[in-house]
Amino acid sequence: MPTVLALETSCDESAAAVVHLADGHYSVLASCIASQVEEHARWGGVVPEIASRRHVEALPGLIHQALLDSGQDWDQLDAVAATVAPGLAGALMVASVTGRTLAALHGRPFVGVHHLEGHLASVQLADGCQSPPYVVLLVSGGHTELIRVEVDGSMHRLGRSHDDAAGEAFDKVARLLGLGYPGGPAIQKAALDGDSSSFSLPKGRISLPGGGFHPYDFSFSGLKTAMLRTVERLREQHDALPIADLAASFEQVVADVLVERSLRCVLDEGLNQLVLVGGVAANRRLRRCMQAGAEAQGVAVSIAPLGFCTDNAAMIGAAAVTRLQRGPVVSSLEMGVSARWPLEQSTDLYASPPPF
Ligand code: KG4
Ligand code: ZN
Repeated sequence: MPTVLALETSCDESAAAVVHLADGHYSVLASCIASQVEEHARWGGVVPEIASRRHVEALPGLIHQALLDSGQDWDQLDAVAATVAPGLAGALMVASVTGRTLAALHGRPFVGVHHLEGHLASVQLADGCQSPPYVVLLVSGGHTELIRVEVDGSMHRLGRSHDDAAGEAFDKVARLLGLGYPGGPAIQKAALDGDSSSFSLPKGRISLPGGGFHPYDFSFSGLKTAMLRTVERLREQHDALPIADLAASFEQVVADVLVERSLRCVLDEGLNQLVLVGGVAANRRLRRCMQAGAEAQGVAVSIAPLGFCTDNAAMIGAAAVTRLQRGPVVSSLEMGVSARWPLEQSTDLYASPPPF
């Protein structure tokens, strides 16, 4: 029945949470997040140096608040967890060094967590979540992947984007439409009054060397270019762009392609369970289309709770308690951080000597 203090600073959200797992049930006893989004919005994207500085300022207060909110003291905490990879190196260092220091001071194990394993675990925070084996569609600012998760927690990637991640496409298209950063929520809002069938946009497929197309891989760069060409053409013809229709058409084609390829992947794998996680999983149209598409195919779908789709520390805590529940895990106090690290090698984070 592990209870952990979890920290997350891999990108532009500083976060601390306390998570408990008992009898297969995950409880978020506290979850505190300080978003830096407004500060980065001025620059149209995340500025790494600013992100690190804000984490340094925000994290101690968030930890204090999370411990107060949870009602737990150090005697009741079994471990300290922190994201150690992948992400912005300078930003990752803040949670890593804070987590390792707290673990050393309080004599608790330190559990380094892979950020994407955190996103995968976020679905466990949903009521009535299914258990593996299932296929996960992970859609965030940096990743678009289809991952098969087995009963023992092992993971195997089945599909990926060959260029932009889905969230990146939202961010770039939002910039093109003058909607600001982060693009996902801005496009979702702009699309509310739009007609999603106004513009016909490409679904971006990846050719196979022997002919045909990869069934589950994604490409969003062609869609981005199609949006650019459409906007250029419209600008020549009109004074004002039909922003709502453009946003709705873009959002719809992204949802359609994600739903179609994920469901095909689940069925080809002989499974009937699909999980949707990551920042883009907060998109209401995608959530709706995924639920409808899955129901039509007899596939059960679990989606991360809205509040735990974008970066947060509760999902890092969920990943850590899952690991601790399976057996004793501990990361080296000498472990550093890694900007890039494959999800399939996340078990190496508990190796001695550490992988980085
Ligand atoms: O998971 P996340 O918080 O950070 C990464 O690990 O990348 O995902 C951030 C991404 C951004 O690209 C953002 O535009 C997108 O998630 N996003 C959304 C929505 N909310 C956030 N995309 C579409 N619709 C949303 N409502
Ligand atoms: Zn993330």
